[in-house]
Amino acid sequence: MRTVVTGGAGFLGSYLCERLVERGDEVICLDNLLTGSPGNVAHLLERPGFRLVDCDVTGFLHVAGPVDLVLHLASAASPADYLAYPIETLKVGSIGTLHALGLAREKDARFVLASTSEVYGDPLEHPQHEDYWGNVNPVGPRSVYDEAKRFAESLTTAYGVDTAIVRIFNTYGPRMRPHDGRAIPTFIRQALDGDPITVTGDGTQTRSICYVDDTVTGILALADSDFAGPVNIGNPAELTMTDLARLVRELTGSASPVTYIGRPVDDPHRRCPDTSLAAERLGWRPEVPATAGLRRTIRWFAEEREPLAG
Ligand SMILES: NC(=O)c1ccc[n+]([C@@H]2O[C@H](COP(=O)([O-])OP(=O)(O)OC[C@H]3O[C@@H](n4cnc5c(N)ncnc54)[C@H](O)[C@@H]3O)[C@@H](O)[C@H]2O)c1
Repeated sequence: MRTVVTGGAGFLGSYLCERLVERGDEVICLDNLLTGSPGNVAHLLERPGFRLVDCDVTGFLHVAGPVDLVLHLASAASPADYLAYPIETLKVGSIGTLHALGLAREKDARFVLASTSEVYGDPLEHPQHEDYWGNVNPVGPRSVYDEAKRFAESLTTAYGVDTAIVRIFNTYGPRMRPHDGRAIPTFIRQALDGDPITVTGDGTQTRSICYVDDTVTGILALADSDFAGPVNIGNPAELTMTDLARLVRELTGSASPVTYIGRPVDDPHRRCPDTSLAAERLGWRPEVPATAGLRRTIRWFAEEREPLAG
């Protein structure tokens, strides 16, 4: 297999590149490093068949030679990032997706769009099944991401090549940036530094957190199938943000207090995937419990900060 991964130097993309290289695929990782880092794939650069190309997929997109699979992950993903890069986020979801689909058509390759649970917005149905159309504010601050992904889903569906859509729910693990603004890296950083753990709102809002290995297995199961989706990939075990903060505090052995700060505009109240379709069509189920995944992530964060502390 010869696979193109857009956004491959980001958090999720780097694990996909790793897994593809391990199974013997040739991997062309296209990334403009807006929110990703060469460090995420540095360990792959010496491996035969892996190539990192500095490329903005909203510009000219050309890959020489055959391609069997295009995994389109390029897009800022954390709220802090997409609020800092609103136009870039809209462009990569629209023009970038158009270019990645064009590449798949030119090469007669399968195409997988990394979509998101954010297409459900602040959901009025619970848990969220793929048939639910969502509740998105089209002019709210989060719309640059949510609507870009909804447009990308529509474009992917209309394009008429061999496509699939995966709706990824909150995923966490090593290689997340400590300051990327997402709850888990924020809580871990604060707990390790002995700072107050800042929960937004009253902490009763829920998220369902999936360890990165599980998410990547789900994405690859979809890529290797002939299923078009859309299909949810996430862990249905639901936690309130206060429970998550307390769990991180317990697992880090920190004495940090849990404190409460203002809630972002249009922040979803509940978030939980119905994963029955993934189980039925892909034979996929998440396997890593939150405590095990968080322990691995905390260990990585602790090791990463050691040289700085030293
Ligand atoms: N991590 C999650 O919990 C999650 C949840 C839902 C969906 N997703 C989706 O998965 C994908 C990856 O998310 P992530 O968490 O790894 O984010 P990330 O920010 O770590 O990775 C995104 C990558 O895309 C690259 N990129 C952005 N714009 C680009 C462009 N124009 N051209 C080329 N590269 C570009 C960035 O530099 C970065 O390396 C995104 O599409 C995101 O929407 C992630």
